[in-house]
Amino acid sequence: MKQKKIVLLTGCTLLLLLVIIACAAAPVAPPPAQQSPQQVAAATQVPAQQPVVEPPKPAPKPKDIYEMEISPLTPADCARCHPGVFNEIKAEGGKHKFDCQKCHTKFHQYNPIKQNWNEIMPQCKTCHGLIHGEKFAACATCHSNPHAPKTQMTMSAEMSKVCGDCHTKVGQEIKTNVSKHTNVACSSCHHDKHGYIPSCMECHKPHTSTLTVKECLACHPAHSPLKISYPISTANDICGSCHGVVYGKLKANASKHSTLTCASCHTKHRFIPKCEDCHSKPHGEALLKKFPNCADCHVGAHDLPSKSISK
Ligand code: HEC
Ligand code: HEC
Ligand code: HEC
Ligand code: HEC
Ligand code: HEC
Ligand code: HEC
Ligand code: HEC
Ligand code: HEC
Ligand code: HEC
Ligand code: HEC
Ligand code: HEC
Ligand code: HEC
Repeated sequence: MKQKKIVLLTGCTLLLLLVIIACAAAPVAPPPAQQSPQQVAAATQVPAQQPVVEPPKPAPKPKDIYEMEISPLTPADCARCHPGVFNEIKAEGGKHKFDCQKCHTKFHQYNPIKQNWNEIMPQCKTCHGLIHGEKFAACATCHSNPHAPKTQMTMSAEMSKVCGDCHTKVGQEIKTNVSKHTNVACSSCHHDKHGYIPSCMECHKPHTSTLTVKECLACHPAHSPLKISYPISTANDICGSCHGVVYGKLKANASKHSTLTCASCHTKHRFIPKCEDCHSKPHGEALLKKFPNCADCHVGAHDLPSKSISK
């Protein structure tokens, strides 16, 4: 703010200087060059084959300045001196792409001695009221640039405390599904811009090098990352990145189990199925009574001895 006012002050001073120089120079300056009728004719000359259009009208005689009606500045005039603001609105103004003076009913009235910046600047409330309620009365803490009201929004740890006021579902989800993300500020992930969605890899190393963010999200919902679920088609090497020994065993195994995905048997993380879930009565009662443990003969689910191995 302070800097802005210094710039303003120098701006005003420069403007004043310019005006003084212009006034001093005025009497010496030659009158604006008039084009002679011949020059006008030459400029409007058309190729011979085209029909000649109406003859050039004589230029209107300039009026004395004090006989003229002075029309107010148009937004295009504002833009000529404030190209920065104009271009910002053009690019990011959104629904604020309307005439400057609709907001700036007062302008060029800032006085650093009076410190009247806030008095002359447009107030959001004039048009929008307290659109989000009393709690959100300080518009500029979030909408940091009125010329880019939706795209340039502050994302701070301070603001993170109120994201949940609007995003009630997400706020609730991250609080009730306690994980280490519960204590990560919303704005640490959704940084820079309101609406920005981060990549998990900004903060984490993926389990395997080929994993995509879409795949991460298929297992870990962003706001409840410990509520893990995965599709049956999940590639075994992802599980293998943490369960290396089991992965190695199954990969080396030649039984039909090795053609299955880990996820087809372990349908939920940490769930361990029983052989009987899939093989209800593989052998006679007598045998199973004598050897109740399938593993006594079949070793284990990941390393079944099989016909293919013993051939
Ligand atoms: C939706 C309302 C709105 C519109 C439309 C708008 N402004 Fe502003 N403008 C503001 C507000 C509010 C401020 C005060 C910002 C502050 O206090 O930092 C401001 C500040 C300014 C400033 C001083 C600070 C700066 O950013 O340089 C200039 C110059 C300015 N506007 C020019 C313009 C011009 C030129 C246009 C049209 C091309 C325009 N504004 C359109 C609301 C508007
Ligand atoms: C001939 C150039 C010129 C034109 C035309 C012009 N401005 Fe300015 N304006 C300035 C200068 C110089 C400043 C002071 C330095 C700065 O902030 O850039 C200024 C400052 C401002 C400010 C901030 C300070 C204050 O006192 O309000 C606003 C807002 C503003 N102009 C709006 C407008 C709007 C709206 C228009 C069109 C209706 C406009 N200006 C047309 C040159 C111009
Ligand atoms: C002169 C009236 C006026 C002022 C002052 C004004 N706005 Fe607006 N604003 C509008 C209008 C009109 C719209 C479009 C509303 C609509 O279509 O529903 C709008 C839209 C918006 C939008 C939505 C933008 C979009 O592209 O969807 C935001 C955000 C906004 N204003 C914030 C602000 C903030 C913050 C301020 C104060 C810095 C402010 N406005 C000052 C008139 C104004
Ligand atoms: C805590 C942050 C915060 C504060 C404070 C805040 N806003 Fe907003 N506002 C937002 C967010 C976030 C949006 C949604 C933007 C989007 O849709 O992308 C929004 C949207 C808007 C919209 C567009 C609404 C629509 O339906 O499109 C307007 C207008 C607006 N704000 C005006 C204001 C005004 C006026 C104030 C001050 C009285 C204000 N805001 C204070 C964060 C805030
Ligand atoms: C660890 C990083 C992280 C944190 C912390 C985080 N988010 Fe998100 N958020 C994401 C990711 C990633 C997505 C995209 C999710 C998707 O596409 O399924 C997202 C999506 C969203 C969405 C849009 C989709 C939806 O679910 O509605 C909103 C709104 C949102 N987050 C708000 C918040 C809020 C509010 C907080 C704080 C209470 C927060 N986020 C905390 C990473 C995070
Ligand atoms: C004033 C209400 C308001 C506040 C405060 C607010 N948001 Fe939003 N947010 C919205 C609206 C409205 C949308 C756009 C509507 C939509 O897509 O659901 C949105 C969209 C989003 C999206 C994109 C959703 C998508 O599907 O792409 C994310 C992410 C998000 N907000 C995160 C946050 C975070 C983080 C905060 C706090 C730093 C926050 N919001 C504060 C109202 C708000
Ligand atoms: C802004 C950084 C950030 C982003 C982006 C992020 N995380 Fe995290 N995540 C963390 C932090 C910090 C922790 C806690 C790490 C620790 O304590 O070792 C964490 C922890 C986790 C945990 C363990 C949770 C627990 O309670 O043990 C999982 C799972 C996780 N993140 C998955 C993801 C996924 C999936 C994404 C993408 C949707 C993601 N994270 C995006 C920062 C982030
Ligand atoms: C097939 C499901 C699956 C996919 C895909 C997946 N994860 Fe995980 N992730 C897990 C499981 C299971 C755990 C272990 C949870 C536990 O400890 O109970 C885990 C743990 C984590 C942890 C906790 C710290 C650690 O390394 O033990 C982080 C962080 C994490 N994942 C991030 C990611 C990210 C980032 C991606 C995408 C690149 C991703 N995950 C993809 C299943 C998956
Ligand atoms: C990021 C590492 C990670 C990934 C990826 C991962 N797990 Fe785990 N898994 C763990 C951890 C940590 C445990 C708990 C270890 C313990 O209790 O010894 C566990 C436990 C298990 C258990 C229970 C083990 C027992 O002894 O009770 C099974 C079954 C399991 N995981 C299967 C899978 C499957 C299937 C996948 C792939 C879809 C997978 N895991 C992906 C880390 C991971
Ligand atoms: C989630 C289901 C599931 C579970 C649990 C399961 N299996 Fe299987 N098993 C299969 C399928 C599917 C096949 C292949 C059947 C086919 O192609 O005919 C198979 C095949 C076998 C075969 C024949 C192997 C071959 O190569 O011919 C044996 C032996 C076997 N299972 C034993 C077991 C034992 C012992 C357990 C417990 C440690 C077990 N299974 C747990 C699904 C399962
Ligand atoms: C045919 C079904 C089936 C498949 C496929 C399967 N498992 Fe298992 N898994 C079991 C069964 C049944 C057990 C119980 C112990 C046993 O019989 O070996 C088990 C036990 C486990 C355990 C805990 C005990 C131990 O051996 O460490 C982990 C971890 C595990 N599996 C991970 C995996 C991973 C990772 C994959 C894929 C590489 C996988 N499983 C593939 C059925 C299967
Ligand atoms: C006393 C040793 C023994 C016990 C205990 C045992 N099996 Fe078997 N099982 C065998 C033999 C031997 C074969 C035939 C092997 C072959 O054909 O290669 C077999 C074959 C199978 C087959 C493959 C059948 C086919 O049609 O290809 C399945 C499935 C099977 N057993 C499951 C089980 C399950 C489940 C249990 C535990 C409830 C179990 N077995 C207990 C010895 C045993």
